[in-house]
Amino acid sequence: MYQSQYPLSATKVILSTPAIRRRVLQLAKQIAQHYQSRSLILVCVLKGSFIFCADFIRALWQVGLIDVQLDCLGISSYQLTTQSSKTPQLTKDLDLNPRGRHVLIVEDIVDTGHSLKAIIGLIKAREPASLKTLTLLNKPSRRQIAVTVDYVGFEVEGWVEGYGLDTAEYYRGRPEICQRQATS
Ligand code: PRP
Repeated sequence: MYQSQYPLSATKVILSTPAIRRRVLQLAKQIAQHYQSRSLILVCVLKGSFIFCADFIRALWQVGLIDVQLDCLGISSYQLTTQSSKTPQLTKDLDLNPRGRHVLIVEDIVDTGHSLKAIIGLIKAREPASLKTLTLLNKPSRRQIAVTVDYVGFEVEGWVEGYGLDTAEYYRGRPEICQRQATS
């Protein structure tokens, strides 16, 4: 099977499910305080952000930020590889019009920065009232392009998977976040 090229035995857990849950709630409290009673569009960046975004939007509800619309944007830079193509492909555009709205981009990970830069450019061109960025995971040491990340869950190193993040489309369902060790 193709999956055997990426054995689970070559991974170690770096962020447990309870640690992720606690941090998601902290972020929701911080971000709800910023938006207070303003209406918000959350942009879930597919595919990697789907699990984080599902937990985050419920955490916002839990802390009282109710006036939230969800939209999804599809973008792909890595396809089945572990190298950024540096030219992200838009696979799904927004359904909602962000013009004049408060928009929060919800990413699973910012690595080289190319994907987030492209998404910011696309949404800014549509003139939102405000635009902020949230990522669960950040890898500043790998940045190739300057990009503003307003809210960060955790800083990580190396290739990570689980909790929505994949390796060649595998392992998105793993409930914790793992680091994949280089295999020779
Ligand atoms: C991942 C992730 C980010 C992007 C970050 O997406 O979800 O969008 O890479 O990498 P960058 O900062 O180097 O651009 P990917 O292209 O793997 O697509 P996926 O979300 O469908 O897995």
